Amino acid sequence: MPPANMISIDGREYEFMPGETILDVARRNGIDIPTLCYLKGATPTGACRMCLVEVQGARTLVASCAMAAAPKMVVKTQTEQVMKARRLNLELLLASGHHNCLVQDLDMDQWTDFQLRAMTTTEHLDICPAYGDCRLQELAIKYGVRGNRFTPAEPRYAIETVNPFIVRDFSRCILCGRCVQACNEVQVNNAISFGYRGANSKIVARGDGPLKGSDCVFCGECLQACPVGALVSKAAMEPGKQPTTGTKPVRTTCSYCGVGCQMYLHVRDNRIEKVTGVEDVGPNYGSLCAKGRFGYDFVDSPDRLKAPLVRENGKFREASWEEALGLVADRLGRIKAESGPDAIGVLSSARVTNEENYLVQKFTRAVLGTNNIDHCARL
Ligand code: FES
Repeated sequence: MPPANMISIDGREYEFMPGETILDVARRNGIDIPTLCYLKGATPTGACRMCLVEVQGARTLVASCAMAAAPKMVVKTQTEQVMKARRLNLELLLASGHHNCLVQDLDMDQWTDFQLRAMTTTEHLDICPAYGDCRLQELAIKYGVRGNRFTPAEPRYAIETVNPFIVRDFSRCILCGRCVQACNEVQVNNAISFGYRGANSKIVARGDGPLKGSDCVFCGECLQACPVGALVSKAAMEPGKQPTTGTKPVRTTCSYCGVGCQMYLHVRDNRIEKVTGVEDVGPNYGSLCAKGRFGYDFVDSPDRLKAPLVRENGKFREASWEEALGLVADRLGRIKAESGPDAIGVLSSARVTNEENYLVQKFTRAVLGTNNIDHCARL
């Protein structure tokens, strides 16, 4: 192992590859450095300053997500100066907008109380819909930041609720830029960018209008990248609903097409609140299309069929499975006997699993005796 490729982090030596940042080397070796704006695979922006570390010889703390590892570099990730800087950054971020997740007014002298209340309270009205799933809240709790040292900034821009799937709450935006990178560098849709300057900075779509009038295709990559409650799935914004816990991720495979994208359903109170792609795993590596990301309202739809229907005199009536299957077997058997098996055709669906499609073709060929089998994407 050539010494030229070694870096010291917290007193231990690690090898690095050309092009790796300090953060890359640390993460690869299980060293925790907090991040907010860092988005894997995108150009580092150094916007949030949460990943600050001490580098021997450097005049100031450096952002580890943007600093390339160099030979003989000596890095410290947990010094008092580093911790102080991270806490201050968290306080400033909490004061930059409307972050009412209770870390604002908890009593830091009572650490247990602080943690318990932050995770379980129900007393606030209008709690952020990202409550319990917010990286800023998580870091504030971890670093014991109260967030009430600075007066919170007044919201400058109205909440945008006119989009079909995404609510944009600019008052909760910390301008980390992850959504912009997700849109421009990951999905390459180029629908959003930074707009205005200084305290008026804002993430804007075309003409500073709503997403629905822009080039946005509602893939939801931005929503997945947002570490706070600035971009929220509309389904999670039910009026009068107050989150008291985080969502529970349930891993599954998207059934909209045959690609088999890996996804998490984020469930709270037995309802799906959002869907995210599983990162670092193929075939989708965290990305999803609009259908996979937002097309789950059918799960709780009151229109879902719960029993087979049999049509009689032009009207449907509920039937038992035995009756319905018996009826279908009887009719198919009669057609086959009268007109031959090729008088029957079967359409399966691209939205069911491979195994189910296999069973359908097996039934069609082996039981019905015809090769008239196809699928319909709209079924
Ligand atoms: Fe490095 Fe934000 S993660 S500056």
